[in-house]
Amino acid sequence: MKRQLLTLCMLLLAVPMLWAQSNGQTDFNKNWKFFKGSVNEGEKATLNDDNWRTVRVPHDWAIEGPFSKEYSTRCGGLPFHGEGWYRKHFTLTEEQKGKQVAIEFEGVMNNSEVWINGHYLGKRPFGYIGFEYDLTPYLNEKTENVIAVKVSPEDLSSRWYPGAGIYRKVWLNVNNSIHVGHWGSFVKANNVTSRVATIEIAIDVQNHLKSDEIVTITNKVISPEGKVVKVLNTKTVAEKEATVKSMQSFNLLSPELWSQEQPNLYHVVTEIKDNKGKLMDTYTSRFGVRDIKFTAKEGFFLNGKLTKFKGVCLHHDLGPLGTAVNRRATERQLQIMKDMGVNAIRTSHNPPSRELLEVCDEMGLIVIDEAFDEWKIGKIENGYNNYFDEWHDRDLRDMIRRDRNHPSIILWSIGNEILEQGSKEGWKVANKLATICHEEDPSRPNTAGFNNYGGSIKHKLADQVDVVGFNYKPAKYAELVEEHPDWIIYGSETESVTSSRGVYQDTFLEKYEKHEDKQVTSYDIVGPVWAYPPDMEFKFEKENPSIMGEFMWTGFDYYGEPTPYGGRDNVTNGQWRADWPSKSSYFGAVDLCGFPKDRFYLYQSEWTDKPMLHVLPHWNWKGYEGKEIPVFVYTNAEEVELFLNGQSLGKKVKGVDKATIPVSFRFYEGPNNFESPYRLRWDVPYQKGELKAISYIDGKVINEEVIHTTIKAKSITLEADRQVISADNGEDLVYVTARAIDENGHFCATFNGELSFDVQGAGTFEATGNGDPTMTIVPQSKKLKFFNGMALVIARAKEGVEGTMTITAKGKRLKSATIKVETKLSATAKREL
Ligand code: GAL
Repeated sequence: MKRQLLTLCMLLLAVPMLWAQSNGQTDFNKNWKFFKGSVNEGEKATLNDDNWRTVRVPHDWAIEGPFSKEYSTRCGGLPFHGEGWYRKHFTLTEEQKGKQVAIEFEGVMNNSEVWINGHYLGKRPFGYIGFEYDLTPYLNEKTENVIAVKVSPEDLSSRWYPGAGIYRKVWLNVNNSIHVGHWGSFVKANNVTSRVATIEIAIDVQNHLKSDEIVTITNKVISPEGKVVKVLNTKTVAEKEATVKSMQSFNLLSPELWSQEQPNLYHVVTEIKDNKGKLMDTYTSRFGVRDIKFTAKEGFFLNGKLTKFKGVCLHHDLGPLGTAVNRRATERQLQIMKDMGVNAIRTSHNPPSRELLEVCDEMGLIVIDEAFDEWKIGKIENGYNNYFDEWHDRDLRDMIRRDRNHPSIILWSIGNEILEQGSKEGWKVANKLATICHEEDPSRPNTAGFNNYGGSIKHKLADQVDVVGFNYKPAKYAELVEEHPDWIIYGSETESVTSSRGVYQDTFLEKYEKHEDKQVTSYDIVGPVWAYPPDMEFKFEKENPSIMGEFMWTGFDYYGEPTPYGGRDNVTNGQWRADWPSKSSYFGAVDLCGFPKDRFYLYQSEWTDKPMLHVLPHWNWKGYEGKEIPVFVYTNAEEVELFLNGQSLGKKVKGVDKATIPVSFRFYEGPNNFESPYRLRWDVPYQKGELKAISYIDGKVINEEVIHTTIKAKSITLEADRQVISADNGEDLVYVTARAIDENGHFCATFNGELSFDVQGAGTFEATGNGDPTMTIVPQSKKLKFFNGMALVIARAKEGVEGTMTITAKGKRLKSATIKVETKLSATAKREL
């Protein structure tokens, strides 16, 4: 689709399903046997795997560690490469016999190969996409069956921590001989207004019989409140051993639109009946009704409302859980992002988990679903470039087929910082991928994240996509808008400032490359040569209002890519081992545990209206008495007054009294000091005691924030993210934050002493963390250290057990703390038990 047409044509649509589920889908995640290492004839049904470990998937073998310099630090210093085997034994139930049986993997990292009873089913090099294999011809009806999965990720195959193993869910899909195909529904809402929307429901029906069949397809459309709002019936001939596509559409009056404020979700329940009227399949698809429009002049509109991207890029790891997908962990991550004011997620740089998209649908977050970090030209030795020729068509189409029903997705991204930008022929690949996106889904535009400013334009890659993303080029926005007035432009990746939570070195506002403690100061000023503080993106977007917004790098810290530490590729042969034990990223606005860093509040001050106030650094500067300490205040209020030990240090007005910060980055030709209207700054001669900020709007006190000089840590406090969690399926988690406190009850912001956690009762211990990018204690350890006064424990509800779990934290010479969390069963789970 030509970009110019987009403004007219993208008044479309929306979403289908979030969630597609067939009545034949069975949980296949428990009781897998696992062996880490090579296995001779591991696929053979007769192999004795009694001594292998029993695991539940999603499972990430690499997060078990150890962290070691021996492994690539660029990938987190974790043992993700090598070989691992999973096997699962199962016997068909009476109802499953004679059926169509398939196994569905939502994602295996990576290079998976799968066998059933010794028969080879296939391989899938790409770790980020799901796939299904038909098992029917090879099944033993009377005796046991064995699925074997070989996983063999290679070293130097990722630019970040990818995880390893069956890290997403597995299903056994058991169907009648006529059923809805895999990812077999596409529900679109076209021509959406608040009065009416045209809903189009496409269903793929598979007939495995050796004869043609007349089938009846019934689609029941169910409103967000659960009312049937439409029933559509159609009869069609399903040819033998083939797939037939059916299409139904109707006008939905007064649709309840999916929006960021009210993410309304509809369902379609599809029933397939054979010619005798026998029900063959029931399949549920979730979708939303919304209108998206992109314009070069004004930006992006959701249901007619101009919406700026306040976005974050996210990698897929879940901190202490590694990459093993968990719905609650994902939901917590996105809730923390929403609290920061985020309204958009870029799934850098690959297709995310189903869970992430589902939660975005439910929370009203918009999503850029990204396919690739490499095309044919590799960034790393064993990366996706080796598979691109053979697999890109299938992988990209599969991403769109898998995800096309999610209302949250507004753009398909064909790549990030693709090296073909530097090649004359690169546009051909871009064109091919963009065409695939249009063929699979004419309702959404495509995009890419370009970093090579000259190359992407000169070699015409930017001309191939509908919406043009630039990484780290705010200083070029004015030129872009002027020279390419018909381009629809946004910051696909921005900022990349680095920091360690709670760390403030006495270099204060001096920009440095590296620091000897392998941490990065949290004044939000230090970053690599392409990086700049959030302030600069805010400034250039304000000056160029048609820029649709930004996706900052990154919402959360992630394992791997510990810039500025580790070294670059040319000197470390891609391993980045130079600054061990620095091994996880410093880019996050939030650390690996989900604890906000200062930058979280800087975004909050720009992206949210709810009054907030944040003061940095900490106030423990023994030995610096009388020396000036820069104090920053982040707020969305009008004015702030700062007090030291009760004495006013004066009021400052946001936007008027500017804070001087150092700024220099590629393509920026302005002065090296920026007068930021986004922060307030006082230089305060240090005196121990109490630093207090009070914010005002219209002269009225709005918020107050106090930080204290602390004395020795005396005790621990515990805070759970939820008081009650679900015991239904053993998947729910509670996150408990430990804080070190002194005898006056003040938070000890520089305390790094040891502690240990214990979980008893209705829950089990899952993992710990503290957010320190240099920590090499694995998350499975109950013993760890506070990092700048904080630590985290994650506990899991026991499946089917209602009761109380008791979580205890103990530390040397610290008063311990205990917290209780309830686990409850839903009414449905109780009935099933
Ligand atoms: C970008 C890249 C990201 C990450 C980031 C760090 O160039 O797209 O994946 O490496 O730099 O600043």
